[in-house]
Amino acid sequence: MMWYRDTPFVLGGSERAHLKVEGLSAGYGAFLVLRDLNLEVRPGLTVVLGPNGAGKTTLLKALNGLIRRQGVVTLDGGDLPEKTNEIVQAGMALVAEGRQLFPQMTVTENLELGGWLTPKAERARRLEQAFADFPKLRERAQQLAGTMSGGEQQMVAVARAMMSAPRLLMLDEPSLGLAPRMVDELLGMVRRIADAGTTVLMVEQNVKKALAVADRGYVLERGTLVASGPARLLARSSVVREAYLGASSTVAHGAATAAGAAHRRPNAPTA
Ligand SMILES: Nc1ncnc2c1ncn2[C@@H]1O[C@H](COP(=O)(O)OP(=O)(O)OP(=O)(O)O)[C@@H](O)[C@H]1O
Ligand SMILES: [Mg+2]
Repeated sequence: MMWYRDTPFVLGGSERAHLKVEGLSAGYGAFLVLRDLNLEVRPGLTVVLGPNGAGKTTLLKALNGLIRRQGVVTLDGGDLPEKTNEIVQAGMALVAEGRQLFPQMTVTENLELGGWLTPKAERARRLEQAFADFPKLRERAQQLAGTMSGGEQQMVAVARAMMSAPRLLMLDEPSLGLAPRMVDELLGMVRRIADAGTTVLMVEQNVKKALAVADRGYVLERGTLVASGPARLLARSSVVREAYLGASSTVAHGAATAAGAAHRRPNAPTA
């Protein structure tokens, strides 16, 4: 059995959210990481690729109101609010790097937290829908999240984000640390969420697999976008092939990981 139901996801919106980012800059204190980014997240599945430390997580944090941003960001033509709770209410949800579950809480309790801004009766209805959308989670409803495997925790994290019924779902490296089969299932699930009408913005290091499921992509390097386009064309572009898909890609990736080790994975998974 797959983790998700073989039919469209009911949680999540179908209003085909469209995010536009113009001249976005963001960073930490005086340290500017992102400089003057322009990008568009159209209905469907958009992926952001790039080496360690490029600013991918910083981009998602800025869009989710976790750090301050400069520039113009609009969701369906309206200004995106500044505060995280207002951004969630506007219809955007983030599955953070490292999942960020509450390990001492059950699966159900973690899911309920995803509906924190929702009235109680509606939250209960969504929980039931989450279990319908992700049937394997129902079997684990009372298990402590921290005792689940990495792949299981990632499914809880995605289901929790869906509890806010987002119109735009952001995912930060959802396939990190998962076995190849689980990666395939997870990316397949993300694809189906996009097909069911929730716009998706996903950061991934699994370049080949990400481009295989995405509609469009951007490549971020040192805080700047260096390439963009339809996923199929990007996969064939020299920028992506040389840096990420070439014969030496494992070596290059290893080097990038080593160079970025100092800041790598500050939010390691809980299990
Ligand atoms: N809280 C922070 N305070 C200061 N600098 C930070 C902070 N978080 C990240 N940075 C720095 O911002 C830059 C971009 O980091 P970011 O986490 O966005 O990269 P990333 O593309 O997500 O990398 P990875 O693939 O390793 O997750 C790095 O130089 C990093 O050291
Ligand atoms: Mg990151």
